[in-house]
Amino acid sequence: MKILPTHLTDPFQRTIDYVRLSVTDRCDFRCVYCMAEEMTFLPKPSVLTLEEIYQVGQAFTELGVSKVRLTGGEPLIRNGIMGLVERLGRLDGLNELVLTTNGSQLQRLAPQLRDFGVRRLNISLDSLQPRKFRQLTRHGNLDQVIAGIDAAIEAGFERTKINAVILKGRNEDEVLDLVEFVRDRHIDIAFIEEMPLGLIDEHDRALSFMSSDELREIINDRYPLTSLGDATAEAAGPAHYFTLSDSESRIGFISPHSHNFCHLCNRVRVTVEGRLLLCLGNEHSVDLREVLRSENYSLDRLKWTIVEAMKRKPEKHYMNDSDGHDIVRFMSMTGG
Ligand code: GTP
Ligand code: 5AD
Ligand code: SF4
Repeated sequence: MKILPTHLTDPFQRTIDYVRLSVTDRCDFRCVYCMAEEMTFLPKPSVLTLEEIYQVGQAFTELGVSKVRLTGGEPLIRNGIMGLVERLGRLDGLNELVLTTNGSQLQRLAPQLRDFGVRRLNISLDSLQPRKFRQLTRHGNLDQVIAGIDAAIEAGFERTKINAVILKGRNEDEVLDLVEFVRDRHIDIAFIEEMPLGLIDEHDRALSFMSSDELREIINDRYPLTSLGDATAEAAGPAHYFTLSDSESRIGFISPHSHNFCHLCNRVRVTVEGRLLLCLGNEHSVDLREVLRSENYSLDRLKWTIVEAMKRKPEKHYMNDSDGHDIVRFMSMTGG
């Protein structure tokens, strides 16, 4: 009988120890770079149940995955999400349960998330001006999100991080204000280049694209930045982090276009429909829902499917190509 491995590896000698689980494709916001104004969301039967998501989390942790990030859509608007968080938080071997959120529910939920074992939160915030915040998110309320961020700080999460997508001509003038915001609160920030995911007709991506190099120059002129290089635990991720001389806040830049981290990639993701995606920028995937819903389902079968899937992890993504590699998934379905 074949014995299940204790670690996941792919054909390029990378160890996969980080899984991003999207728990819903829905969101209470409609950010211009993420969703169309009118969205058709997935029908309920095609979405994994909370129990199925838990099984996926358990399978991965038993295969040596030590970090699980819950994403969406907006994970905190899924009914029953706190029960799932509580159960995942109790899994042996899971060192880091973390969550990416738009912050709208944090005022209410931050203390309980902390109690259930969530270690860190990444919270989106693209503007500090109420009207512009509303324009960018279409439905968001700035005061509510800032109160949510402050509730997270109060609850004592480790290294809370703000995610800011900067678009030329829209919020590029707020870069230094956002840096001030995180400095005042002793938290981190990652500036994100817009990624060409999903087709959003009212918003011209070529016009709004702002590169990390441009952003870095703006910040460096005001606050000299020192690179943290590959020395951080996050080196296997998309962000390149810098420190400031007079603050503990770290400034990151996420630039899938201009810098490649694929050779260090340690992550896979599972969509809310149970598709195991081996790379954000490729369509390579394996259907876990089919296994979860099969008559002879067992946790071991799910684990074997995951082990075998790793053979299909591509060496790198092709998001920079214009020839036929366009990804038509929305970020809200893949969980970023
Ligand atoms: P940590 O590394 O745990 O701090 O998380 P993160 O910064 O990767 O996660 P988060 O959910 O905050 O995502 C921030 C941005 O990074 C989003 O725009 C994601 O789409 C992007 N991102 C996450 N994973 C990948 C990836 O594998 N490839 C690329 N190109 N971008 C990614
Ligand atoms: N490009 C870049 N970032 C995106 N996000 C959502 N859609 C996109 C996109 N097309 C960001 C959100 C959030 C993070 C998880 O992903 O703003 O901060
Ligand atoms: Fe919702 Fe996040 Fe997408 Fe904005 S970026 S619409 S907050 S999922």
